[in-house]
Amino acid sequence: MKIDQVLKELEATQQQFWNISPEAGKFLYDLVKKCKSLQILEIGSSNGYSTLWLAKAVLENKQGCIITIEQDIQRAALAHQNFEKTGVQRFIDLKIGDAKQILMHLDQEFDFIFIDARKSEYLEYLKLIEKNIKKWGIVVADNILYPYPQKVRNYVEYMRTSGVFTSRLENVGSGMEVSIKK
Ligand SMILES: C[S@@+](CC[C@H](N)C(=O)[O-])C[C@H]1O[C@@H](n2cnc3c(N)ncnc32)[C@H](O)[C@@H]1O
Repeated sequence: MKIDQVLKELEATQQQFWNISPEAGKFLYDLVKKCKSLQILEIGSSNGYSTLWLAKAVLENKQGCIITIEQDIQRAALAHQNFEKTGVQRFIDLKIGDAKQILMHLDQEFDFIFIDARKSEYLEYLKLIEKNIKKWGIVVADNILYPYPQKVRNYVEYMRTSGVFTSRLENVGSGMEVSIKK
């Protein structure tokens, strides 16, 4: 099945699986496509909706691979099905478990990271993976404006003031912080 068809189908259950909006998905797709990102990491796959937007860019760029992490076994199983349905599983490594444990053991570098798991843990994920982010690597974090901006405040503050990243809010979906490693 075509990715666009599956994306359309999944939009019917968007709220149930806490998926990003189609507009936010298109935003991620455009970034990966333009930057020709090669090593992509996603934290918080749910049923794979946002992963499919990333995968669509990888497919069209004809290069790249994705690691995506989900701790809920049922949602991970649905993500797996959706990847198989569209044939993108060949370049997606779906890791099931707590991102904090998994990130600790990743040793490859990344040039694109999308963070969309537990809001209060964003900074913890980032710190665990920061050394693996390439120069000019992009980190996008969702839900900066909605629904719990206070939970991501420490993350936003770090991204804007640590001196490690250049960072700003994009008013797309629930608010996405887009940061580039200097
Ligand atoms: C907002 S949903 C992700 C939605 C997905 N990015 C999309 O737009 O299609 C957040 C997901 O993160 C997962 N999650 C939360 N904390 C996690 C953790 N510590 N490790 C791995 N997954 C986690 C939840 O189980 C949930 O499925």
